[in-house]
Amino acid sequence: MKKCLFYLSVIVMALFMVVAPAFAKTYIVGTSADFPPFEYIEKGQIVGFDIDLIKAIAESQGIKVEFQDISFDSLIPGLNAGTIDIVASGMTITEERAKVVDFTEPYYSANQAVLVKEGGGKNVTVLFGDHKLAVQTGTTGDLWVEENLEKTGILKGKVTRFDTFVLAIQDLLNGNVDGVVLDTPVAQRYAAENPVVMVAEIITGEEYGFAVAKGNKELLEKLNKGLEEVKASGKMDELLKKYF
Ligand code: ARG
Repeated sequence: MKKCLFYLSVIVMALFMVVAPAFAKTYIVGTSADFPPFEYIEKGQIVGFDIDLIKAIAESQGIKVEFQDISFDSLIPGLNAGTIDIVASGMTITEERAKVVDFTEPYYSANQAVLVKEGGGKNVTVLFGDHKLAVQTGTTGDLWVEENLEKTGILKGKVTRFDTFVLAIQDLLNGNVDGVVLDTPVAQRYAAENPVVMVAEIITGEEYGFAVAKGNKELLEKLNKGLEEVKASGKMDELLKKYF
């Protein structure tokens, strides 16, 4: 009888081990895939440094992740509504955002930059006077332009706010705007691949973190632990080398 029970429990355990992973929660990672080399679309797939980094963290913590491409200003509302679980989108850790979401430890540093069209004769003065600028809605670049240029009246021209940087750069190439304000590493990447040039860096001293819903301690701890492990194993360096 005892033996019978023993075999039965072994069978139940084995069954559980086969079935459980199928029920393991898959975390939905939200990203705005217009931000190379952090997240962008290549051959119809969402790829990039953030994507590989989250995948490596997930692997180290034994969790599953799936990616969703959504506009940047919908990411924090998505976390709060529970439609996504993690934001991996080159998101700067700011005091304002940290009031409504929780951030991991920082994983990358950046500043803001100004891009103009190559050969158009424009320079850093696009930030002043009667010039037109483009930004991505809800980004730190958007806020910087609003606080420092619009509210102060330094800039008199219009600021167009786009859902994606792809559209903002397109408008710059089309000559509809004079400059785009965006994060330095991404400005450099766009400049390397398009006829646009970086004419200024604005030292804002930003740091990127992954975000989870406020109070989701369990997931935040997993991400922080994973981040540490990915750094310690040398995988982080490997990804930095691959993308930068
Ligand atoms: N670092 C900036 C911010 O947090 C810009 C991030 C934009 N990210 C993106 N995937 N488009 O506002």
